Amino acid sequence: MISQAVAARLSQGSMIRRMFEEGNRLKAIYGADQVFDFSIGNPDLEPPAQVLQAIRQLALDETPGRHGYMSNAGYESTRTAIAGRLSRKSGLAVPAGAVCMTVGAACALNVALKALLDPGDEVLVLAPYFLEYLTYIDNHGGRPVVVRTDPETFLPDPDAIRLALTPRTKALIINSPNNPAGVIYPADLLRRIGEVLRQAPQTVYVLSDEPYAELAYDGAIVPATLACLDNVVICDSWSKSLSLPGERIGFLAVSPRCEDADRLAEAAAFCLRTLGFVNAPAFFQRVIELALEARVDIRRYETRRNMLADILQEAGFNLNRPAGGLYLFPKSPIADDVAFAEACARHRVLLVPGSGFGFPGHVRLCFAASESSIRGSAAAFQAIGREFGVS
Ligand SMILES: Cc1ncc(COP(=O)(O)O)c(C=O)c1O
Repeated sequence: MISQAVAARLSQGSMIRRMFEEGNRLKAIYGADQVFDFSIGNPDLEPPAQVLQAIRQLALDETPGRHGYMSNAGYESTRTAIAGRLSRKSGLAVPAGAVCMTVGAACALNVALKALLDPGDEVLVLAPYFLEYLTYIDNHGGRPVVVRTDPETFLPDPDAIRLALTPRTKALIINSPNNPAGVIYPADLLRRIGEVLRQAPQTVYVLSDEPYAELAYDGAIVPATLACLDNVVICDSWSKSLSLPGERIGFLAVSPRCEDADRLAEAAAFCLRTLGFVNAPAFFQRVIELALEARVDIRRYETRRNMLADILQEAGFNLNRPAGGLYLFPKSPIADDVAFAEACARHRVLLVPGSGFGFPGHVRLCFAASESSIRGSAAAFQAIGREFGVS
């Protein structure tokens, strides 16, 4: 029999899985081009040419020892390159020793939580949130404490964070640009959150989950969290910015303004090893080093965001146009967002209820879908709008 804790988590995630299975069922009946799947955050752009060129070049390299174990934290040269980039962005001197290469951002978060948490320690999570945070915190004996953001802007309220702090609070997870809300936290708000955390008698670490940091639209700037807050641990990856989610490559970086920074970096490498990852994929560490400045063409995502947002607004739905990330998070026209998502599936439109992100009453749509699929969904959204009386 599987663990009761895992069984409980499995049933909580079942709506998203059911959506995925429903999508496969509908695609088998109607054909993939007749199902409008906005449910999964899988980037549909191919990696940039510079990445593909690095892959070809490195695949031909027959230097001995290229496939062996390495320092748990990763190749020194890759970490030096990343530290340099972080230093230029933040204005802080980030040493290579502060960077630990990881198996995507998900691994970075698990490693950071493992390194920081004692049993019963509390971790503040801002709703709406990436659902996996709750399980990651649970993985390492912590207790998630959910703090809601503003229901219109999805920006966190520093006073609400202040009220949620207890002597057991060990960390706050932030994610900007946000999945699912698409909001970018401004620098002055980050500084105000920093002031609140500084008032706690104990150190409260900020785990800054940043896989969407390069995906900002209309010229928006994503502030460097390292520059705005103390005690930051960046958890990042190239899953979205280089369209490499299947390659599982990311990193964790400990801020020089972090209490006990060297010890925390050492603990991260130890936790990476002992959680069983040992080290991040060797080949893709080298790819990243060669293509560190490459980016997917975000104008193509901006176009898709605009197309899908226009279609939804023309169908009568109420939404903020997100400043970054890959998702729209409109209001559900009925309070029961799960029932609304099921109704959309009957129109062959797949999306995820906000309940799956701790924020009922909304739904999430991923706009990293083909332009033809987005265009093709317009009639279905018009029909959904009419069915729910919003158009
Ligand atoms: C907010 C957020 N954090 C972390 C992750 C995990 O990223 P990775 O695939 O790099 O592990 C995702 C993936 O979708 C995400 O949306």
